[in-house]
Amino acid sequence: MRIAGTGSVLPKKVVTNDMLAGFLDTSDEWIRTRTGVVSRHVISDEKLEDMAIEAAKRALDNAGMTADELDFIICSNVVNEYVTPQLSCIIQGGIGAECPCIDINCACAGFIYAVEIAESFYQAGKVKNVLVVSAEEPTRMTDWSDRRTCVLFGDGAGAAVLTPGDNIRCVKLSASSATDKLWQYRLLHPTPYITKEEVDVPLQMKGQDVFKFAVKAASKDISRTLKETGHSADEVDHYLLHQANIRIINAIQEYLEQPKEKFPVNIEDHGNSSSSCCPILLDECNRSGRFRKGDLIAMSAFGAGFVSGALLFEW
Ligand code: ACO
Repeated sequence: MRIAGTGSVLPKKVVTNDMLAGFLDTSDEWIRTRTGVVSRHVISDEKLEDMAIEAAKRALDNAGMTADELDFIICSNVVNEYVTPQLSCIIQGGIGAECPCIDINCACAGFIYAVEIAESFYQAGKVKNVLVVSAEEPTRMTDWSDRRTCVLFGDGAGAAVLTPGDNIRCVKLSASSATDKLWQYRLLHPTPYITKEEVDVPLQMKGQDVFKFAVKAASKDISRTLKETGHSADEVDHYLLHQANIRIINAIQEYLEQPKEKFPVNIEDHGNSSSSCCPILLDECNRSGRFRKGDLIAMSAFGAGFVSGALLFEW
């Protein structure tokens, strides 16, 4: 397939580090130097599904396509207000499409997992045009009195339209179960029969373990796509990495021995918006005219699970 159009939407409320320091024992200096985040967009009165629909419409418009031309919609999402129906179905109705749709939860690597599913359906001859939407509100997962987690995240939605082509060169996915490193429990409704103890726990994270996993997994995933396609790291024009921590991005950059200029970032004013990071960054690069036809782009993301993936494609 090839990426024919992109779109993204951010919530209007901007929360700066200084605003967080107003109610948390933290500082702009700590957050900025340890994470690279200066401000983030946080949902206030928006609904995530409306942002997802708008991002999808922008991607369709950018691709010069209408919703009735879509054969499949994949939505990557970790959490939203609906348990059911699935977010992809709400997006389908919102854009006026009629094709089948599916939600996946692959944490921050969801966009890359979704592209692999789209590509596989395409290779199997089942679909031509696929809409992938990542819509995330991780700010609703954290405890806002926990300075170790809530400072990291922002919300947003990003989308891409995939059409027939041979620009997607390689996708590599991986998973490595580690449920005690990054997790959240939610309390389900009680029944008269529940006898086990259940708890409601906001997002918990062993930051340093996640950091180490992230650098290792992303470096390995990207290297695997390069090896399989016979490209060198030097031949890649842009590295679009998950925006979790600028120090993670810098470590991967050093591992690949590539110049900083090849690594566009938006973590400074977006924070980590889970699986939306990659398509939002992709859309911003697309719309700013950063990409030239034929540019080789490596995308990589990692998240809770652990899961990770890399995508090598030509613009
Ligand atoms: N402000 C001030 N101090 C803080 C803050 C804060 N916001 N957060 C933590 N600290 C303190 C800690 O309490 C600790 O203090 P102590 O030494 O007195 O106990 C000290 O700072 C150091 O804490 P560390 O956790 O060791 O700090 P570290 O340098 O590892 O940075 C961070 C923490 C930013 C979370 C880092 O580990 C990281 O980025 N990890 C990866 C996170 C990540 O990538 N998450 C993405 C996955 S999310 C997803 O996929 C859904």
